[in-house]
Amino acid sequence: MHRFKSLAIIGAIFLPLTFLGADMTLKQAYQDHFHIGAALGHRVVEERGETLALVARQFNSVTAENAMKWRSMQPEENRHTPEQADLLVSFGTANDMYVVGHVLFWHNQTPAWVFEDENGEPASREILLKRMRERVRYVAERYRGRVHAWDVVNEAFMGDGSLRDSKWTQILGDDFIEQAFRIAGEELPADVALLYNDYSMTANGRRNAVVAMVRDLKQKGIRIDGIGMQGHWALNSPSIADIERSILAFAATGVEVHITELDIDVLPRHPRMWGADADTQLRLQQDPALNPYTDGLPDEKQEELAQRYAEIFGLFLKHSDKIKRVTFWGPNDANTWLNTWPIRGRTSHPLLFDRQNNPKPAFHAVISLP
Ligand code: GLA
Repeated sequence: MHRFKSLAIIGAIFLPLTFLGADMTLKQAYQDHFHIGAALGHRVVEERGETLALVARQFNSVTAENAMKWRSMQPEENRHTPEQADLLVSFGTANDMYVVGHVLFWHNQTPAWVFEDENGEPASREILLKRMRERVRYVAERYRGRVHAWDVVNEAFMGDGSLRDSKWTQILGDDFIEQAFRIAGEELPADVALLYNDYSMTANGRRNAVVAMVRDLKQKGIRIDGIGMQGHWALNSPSIADIERSILAFAATGVEVHITELDIDVLPRHPRMWGADADTQLRLQQDPALNPYTDGLPDEKQEELAQRYAEIFGLFLKHSDKIKRVTFWGPNDANTWLNTWPIRGRTSHPLLFDRQNNPKPAFHAVISLP
């Protein structure tokens, strides 16, 4: 009798723990709310190692970090190099994932030939529009039924809401975004979500410009299905209130919200990091004060990161009826662009899994919320 009683007590303690515990994965915990994604660099996909196994276990959505950008897929007009993109898409398909195409049209990582004619002069509007359509046709055909969303345009607005000056606007004019979505809508199947993606989407100017852009496209009968908020955030900014304001504003236009490139930078920021000349960059790279966690993240920082992630995911859950997907920009701390940006050679810790793929306190905070 006595023994049974204590067994029952032990059972009562351990059952819920196993149930909630070590075996629960992110994608299971969030399956009734939104997809949980990771961006993957090509090395991780090609290696087929532990990190890829972790991604298959924990996540149900993938984005190529670089492999589907124009420069990766078509470095010259008559040379298509889709092998890396193909491998990523095959991985996603094999694991029944929501696969995101990133990105059709961006001012970065687009090869120069796209914007030039055969004499090296700026291409005409007609040539550029034709090349854009050919690119969309190519991916539409190649990944039919396997890629579920595309970032059609990336980062076309400035923080104040003005259009970014780029080759796109110089050649096409102010209707660049409209032309891009018109072409995507005509060439991609209706069940592929067409997204506009950008960073600092909590800034007033950019938020209002994006909302106006969505309304304008819809009014013209041009399809746009979602807004991607990149989510390259820090420990104390942007505020939860500002993130919420943007989620609500975008959802109110009738599109899905995607959190597309989430990471929380815990390293110190220096005002000269951005756009500094080579000498300054080098000096900053060698400054140990800017790279304080080379031996791992101390407990109190782990807690701070966990707390920040808990607040952010609490907000996402509150609005999960508006949010289609939350994608981390990398699978683990070993594979994050923040190890090289804005200055090279730092040891960054922005994600839920550490360099050995172990779950961090932030993982436990996120997975225990739903
Ligand atoms: C932007 C792009 C991403 C990536 C990051 C830096 O956010 O959308 O594709 O290039 O910059 O890694």
